[in-house]
Amino acid sequence: MKTKAAVVYEPGKRIEIEELDLDGPQAGEVLIRYTHAGLCHSDLHVQHGDIDARMPMVLGHEGAGIVEEVGPGVTRVAVGDHVVCSFIPNCGVCRYCATGNQSICDWGATILDGSLPGPRFPLTGPRGEYGTMCMLGTFSQFGVVHQNSTVKVDDDLPLDKAVLVGCGVPTGWGSAVYSAGVTPGDTVVVFGIGGIGINAVQGARYAGAKNVIAVDPLENKREKAMELGATHAFANADEALPVIIDLTRGQGADSAILTVDVMTPEVIGAGFNAIGKGGVVIVTGLGKLLEPTIQLPGTILTLFRKTLKGSLFGDCNPTYDIPKILGLYQAGDLKLDELVTRTYTLDQVNEGYDDLLAGKNVRGVIVHEH
Ligand SMILES: NC(=O)c1ccc[n+]([C@@H]2O[C@H](COP(=O)([O-])OP(=O)(O)OC[C@H]3O[C@@H](n4cnc5c(N)ncnc54)[C@H](O)[C@@H]3O)[C@@H](O)[C@H]2O)c1
Ligand SMILES: [Zn+2]
Ligand SMILES: [Zn+2]
Repeated sequence: MKTKAAVVYEPGKRIEIEELDLDGPQAGEVLIRYTHAGLCHSDLHVQHGDIDARMPMVLGHEGAGIVEEVGPGVTRVAVGDHVVCSFIPNCGVCRYCATGNQSICDWGATILDGSLPGPRFPLTGPRGEYGTMCMLGTFSQFGVVHQNSTVKVDDDLPLDKAVLVGCGVPTGWGSAVYSAGVTPGDTVVVFGIGGIGINAVQGARYAGAKNVIAVDPLENKREKAMELGATHAFANADEALPVIIDLTRGQGADSAILTVDVMTPEVIGAGFNAIGKGGVVIVTGLGKLLEPTIQLPGTILTLFRKTLKGSLFGDCNPTYDIPKILGLYQAGDLKLDELVTRTYTLDQVNEGYDDLLAGKNVRGVIVHEH
């Protein structure tokens, strides 16, 4: 079948919309009619060449849709099921899945090649085989993905909101709840209030943090943070630090969660300086793949017993956490509607990313047309 998709051919070039051929689902695979896709910053890291990926690549790794067809042996989902896609697949049996660490499942090895196991490329077109971002490629009307990348969700959930639980919400929420292990009474600082950071704010507050300090140079982001659970908001670390010290009687924050768009040594340093003894810095935001972004005084790390920790998918287990987080939304304990700043058609994907880079969007969402 044919599908219209947003493709990056070369780092630094604009995203192109193209009609591609999509093969039907083989064993273990499912055909999804994507209804919605979120505009996460990680696709931009691929488009900008910060992170090397195999080209051409159909972008999009935050997605939701409806199962149209299943290949032989598919048991996780059935035709007609509503699904949220998981940007890291989970095989269920590798060492990591078996120990409750689905976000680092061995099947994640090909997320930047964009091939299904095999390797197999269900999408083909004028430039040969097309990979899909995170083995999903949600900036396409249709996609063939492995069942291990799908999570069935309740039929009555609005997919235009549930889509956010494919990446941004669990990544941010989990960065606070799981990676930082926020506990009641904590003081938490979140640097960078985009689609990820706003959910770190929500997660920190839900986990019982007393003080949630949001740091972002943009006023619209700070306002959104205050609306969704932050207790304080500042434009930069210099303004935030004295208040953090004051609020904690000189101790420093329990955790700093770094969710800025492009990670830098300055942001890592600011997070490191904001936490106190025994505190933890969570590095969730990405930057150039091989650029050293961590330059810290190791002796202070030791003497203050500080921890610096990477977080992928918020350390969530998608088959458990995606339904759980959606349940919190249904119960009113987590906001999704308020996260979507604007919707776009697939043809407007570049405009959507221009808006993201201009600081306008907390999250933009593509509404697919079929
Ligand atoms: N680890 C993971 O599993 C994972 C998953 C998804 C996204 N990411 C990464 O997380 C990061 C955030 O993604 P997003 O979609 O929320 O991006 P975004 O562009 O929506 O938000 C980034 C925010 O950071 C702010 N910012 C920039 N510099 C800052 C600074 N020095 N101090 C404070 N705030 C600053 C920007 O104003 C913006 O509001 C990206 O690097 C993305 O690739 C990581
Ligand atoms: Zn993402
Ligand atoms: Zn696994």
